[in-house]
Amino acid sequence: MNPAPIPQRLLRPAPVRGLPADFRWGVATSAYQIEGAVAEDGRTPSIWDTFCRVPGAVEGGESGDAACDHYHRMPEDVELVAGLGIDTYRFSLAWPRIQPGGRGPANAKGLDFYKRLVDEVQGRGITPWITLYHWDLPQELEDAGGWPARDTALRFAEYAALAHEALGDRVEHWTTLNEPWCSAMLGYAHGVHAPGRRDLGDAMRAVHHLLLGHGLAAGALRDAAGNNPLELGITLNLGTATPETDSAADREACRRADGMGARLYLDPLVHGRYPEDVVADLAAQHIELPVREGDPAAIAAPLDVLGVNFYRGMRFSGVTEDGSATGADGLPVTRVVERDLPRTAMDWEITPTELTDLLVRLQRDYALPTVITENGAAFDDTVAADGSVPDADRTAYLADHIAAVVAARAQGADVRGYFAWSLLDNFEWAYGYDKRFGIVRVDYDTQVRTLKDSAKWYRDTIRLTRRERA
Ligand code: FCB
Repeated sequence: MNPAPIPQRLLRPAPVRGLPADFRWGVATSAYQIEGAVAEDGRTPSIWDTFCRVPGAVEGGESGDAACDHYHRMPEDVELVAGLGIDTYRFSLAWPRIQPGGRGPANAKGLDFYKRLVDEVQGRGITPWITLYHWDLPQELEDAGGWPARDTALRFAEYAALAHEALGDRVEHWTTLNEPWCSAMLGYAHGVHAPGRRDLGDAMRAVHHLLLGHGLAAGALRDAAGNNPLELGITLNLGTATPETDSAADREACRRADGMGARLYLDPLVHGRYPEDVVADLAAQHIELPVREGDPAAIAAPLDVLGVNFYRGMRFSGVTEDGSATGADGLPVTRVVERDLPRTAMDWEITPTELTDLLVRLQRDYALPTVITENGAAFDDTVAADGSVPDADRTAYLADHIAAVVAARAQGADVRGYFAWSLLDNFEWAYGYDKRFGIVRVDYDTQVRTLKDSAKWYRDTIRLTRRERA
């Protein structure tokens, strides 16, 4: 199907109405995608360093070895963040910098980098928002079994405590995991992310131990925080599942997609139990979640905020193109049906109104305050003769999704912030450097950063929104 063309709209910055005065505006990054300096100051390899060396694993054989060289350009990058006028900067800590090898004492040099980063961020009046795990598991822990092994959850809680000990007196906002679905499914079932395994049973064991790791880390962080303020959360990648038709098969496909993509995480986190229908679907494939006594209570540790990463919703059918309800693998069909919608360079459909639907549904079923911890788009940017980057498509994407947040709030969803993904063009995992998500362009030959038009639009939109309120 030919994707519908992206309507070119030139948007002028304007105040966003309908948001509370304390609504957070931010940008997000993650360690492995920007830092580089993978062998400096005691950092040991993560599963991504290893995976990038597997022939064919990453587009163009690229890796995060140099990335955006943020490790050496950090003050300059924080300056960029400050120039955007945002109030919150979400970044992640590299576990193998802080606790090389994933065990034992903290590495002072690794911690120093993040202490300086927090200093720079706070020195400019910006609130740091830390993610503890954005996919860079120390390789030694993968060698010992990785997330399918229970011990990894315990190690994660220990690392969380080390990080909080160093930064917790100043940092209030802590996210345990970024997108456990991706860690488990892309890493252990589909094999397209590190560590590249292809076994659904391993992936499901990874789900349980990621969630357990979250719960144990949450407990460790609360204990460590004592009387210091702590806002604790987890970030999930969530979408919407819309049936192609009203048929029972298509609705079943959506139940399965939503079960494996959303409820498998949200139900234990919020309601303290795995969804029965998903457990039954897994049992039919002879897969069991390795739940031990006490785990559900640990996983359901109270959350202050749910981080939502939204990129797109999807439409599903429960039959193959020739009408069969059973796939070649003998399992019920859950087929993504492409729609005639504009797409990003990832080939992802652009579905802003489905962000509204998602947020309203999350409010109804889980009733947590939410923050959009990532939203953004890759497009094939061009640099104009005057050096500017006229990315009207990205600006429109951001504007439409911010409008979707406003609409969700109007319907009662308690959405408290919006962080654009990403500050910089960066290492987009298996896609390498080809897919540019930044609102700031990075020239990888020179490491020069250039504000794209979308960054200027975002900056001016935030400024005008604040000014109108003042
Ligand atoms: C999310 C990841 C982030 C980035 C965006 C495009 O799944 O959290 O690191 O890759 O997608």
